[in-house]
Amino acid sequence: MTSIRRIGVLTSGGDAPGMNACIRSIVLTAAAHQIEVVGFSHGFNGLIEGDYKKLLPYHVQHIIHLGGTLLKSARCPAMHTEEGAKAAANTLRQMQLDALLVIGGDGSFKGALAIAQHYKGQILGLPGTIDNDVDGTDATIGYATAIDTALDAIDKIRDTADAFERIFLVELMGRHSGFIALSAGIASGAEQIICPELGVLKPGELDAVIRPIQNAQVVKGKSSYIIVMAEHCYPGGSTALAADITKAIGIECRACVLGHIQRGGSPVGADRILATKLGAYAVEQLLGGAHLMMAGEVNHQACLYPLQASGEHKKRIDPYLLRWQQQVAND
Ligand code: F6P
Repeated sequence: MTSIRRIGVLTSGGDAPGMNACIRSIVLTAAAHQIEVVGFSHGFNGLIEGDYKKLLPYHVQHIIHLGGTLLKSARCPAMHTEEGAKAAANTLRQMQLDALLVIGGDGSFKGALAIAQHYKGQILGLPGTIDNDVDGTDATIGYATAIDTALDAIDKIRDTADAFERIFLVELMGRHSGFIALSAGIASGAEQIICPELGVLKPGELDAVIRPIQNAQVVKGKSSYIIVMAEHCYPGGSTALAADITKAIGIECRACVLGHIQRGGSPVGADRILATKLGAYAVEQLLGGAHLMMAGEVNHQACLYPLQASGEHKKRIDPYLLRWQQQVAND
């Protein structure tokens, strides 16, 4: 077992429901091993600026159900520079921290890898993002909650779409991946799903979107029709696509951009459990000497995955569901 006395933790990038549950688990597990925990504020910015607070078990009492992050989160452009990484490493050294835990997505893990060039302590990542676009773990912390949040909204849109027999385009987050769109689209029974894995659409080449709408009208008659689309799949987003569909088929199509609602809210049970498991596992793995790894979960087993690979390999969305969706959308 490695001797670890003090560790740092931060949450970075887009916040995700379950980040608080993860911080709580880290602090409680560390306390059980007599390890001191220091939390840095506003992601890597807190590390660069030396903005931190000591985290004791009572600080993390009753936060497991809270969205957002107690430590605050931020993007940190300075971490794209060597000076930024050096300054961050400097703080870790000056504070005599034996290790750093970074809760975030693959962008945050890049920051962690940059710090490792200038710091001799251990560094582990924990996958916290609603996007689920991190390889080496079946799910990221926050993903399950984001699906349910999107689902709740789409179900409501279905009610009004049904009442007016309208076509709706619902735009969901996901950065450059379609995990949230595919999952929420499948679970809401959306008629069509558009996601980056199926290719980016181009204005003037909308046949693949329009044909299924027209087919559905022939087969089922006038009815509500919901297209769930991931962000960044069309120039101008869902608002522009809705306008172009309206123009092409002569039936009004409405857009609804769900936006940051998907990042907030109380984490669902699955996220609280995953966050607790990975937080505890990361602390234990630090004691086992792990370094430059991500603590993930595959087939219900906590496991380590090289931090570098988590961002390099593109995680695939479920090919089975994707194929099925395309088949029924075109029937
Ligand atoms: O990574 C989480 C995420 O919410 C993405 O889904 C989205 O593309 C991005 O962050 C939005 O970032 P910001 O809140 O900085 O606009």
